[in-house]
Amino acid sequence: MTQAPVITIDGPSGTGKGTIAALLAAHLGWHLLDSGALYRALALAARRSDVDLGDGPELGRLAVRTQVILDGEQVRLDGEDVSELIRTAEAGVDASRVAVHAEVRQALLAWQRDTAVAPGLVADGRDMGSRVFPDARLKIYLDASPEERARRRYKQLKDKGMDANLTDLVQELRARDERDRQRAESPLQVPHAGVVVDSTSKSIDKVFAQVRGLAEAALAATGA
Ligand code: DC
Repeated sequence: MTQAPVITIDGPSGTGKGTIAALLAAHLGWHLLDSGALYRALALAARRSDVDLGDGPELGRLAVRTQVILDGEQVRLDGEDVSELIRTAEAGVDASRVAVHAEVRQALLAWQRDTAVAPGLVADGRDMGSRVFPDARLKIYLDASPEERARRRYKQLKDKGMDANLTDLVQELRARDERDRQRAESPLQVPHAGVVVDSTSKSIDKVFAQVRGLAEAALAATGA
């Protein structure tokens, strides 16, 4: 289905997926797809155009006419740099709400698949291995305990100078996990043939070393 080799990293929020995916893409010299940024940008576009986050058909149409460009850390929405705006906790909740709609996921499917170009792609999200790139060379599912994930998110937001409250974050994260796992369309799940890596109590360096080892072994085995 896809031409260039793909490695997927799925999992709930706050596991360090984004960091690990970026490190792996840089290590391999491959492209990076932060699919969550797409849903976040679309949710922002919906807020701005007063589209109801519960209206799947309208959101699907909005997804088709909205231009999102992902360039490294930078995210552009119809030409505007929204990189910071989409990183708030509220933007994450909004993204999870728009992401339940089949119309939205369908509209973003081809766009995401088109990013799998040479020399290769590291894609992070919720359904990268299960739905978007089922033929990926390696499918990682990165997990961590909810408490640790909330603490990490808290630190991330504080480091960026954003307002955050740990108790609220734990609640939001649980609600978001629940919605991402329970939805009918492409729910968060360990993909078929996925390798579970638990990052609880592990440093980023340690998790990356493990993921890099898995990637190198998978690529050697498939001759990429
Ligand atoms: O990875 P993230 O926190 O930026 O994702 C924000 C939300 O977007 C997440 O709660 C669910 C949704 N999402 C999705 O449904 N599928 C993806 N592949 C990526 C994100």
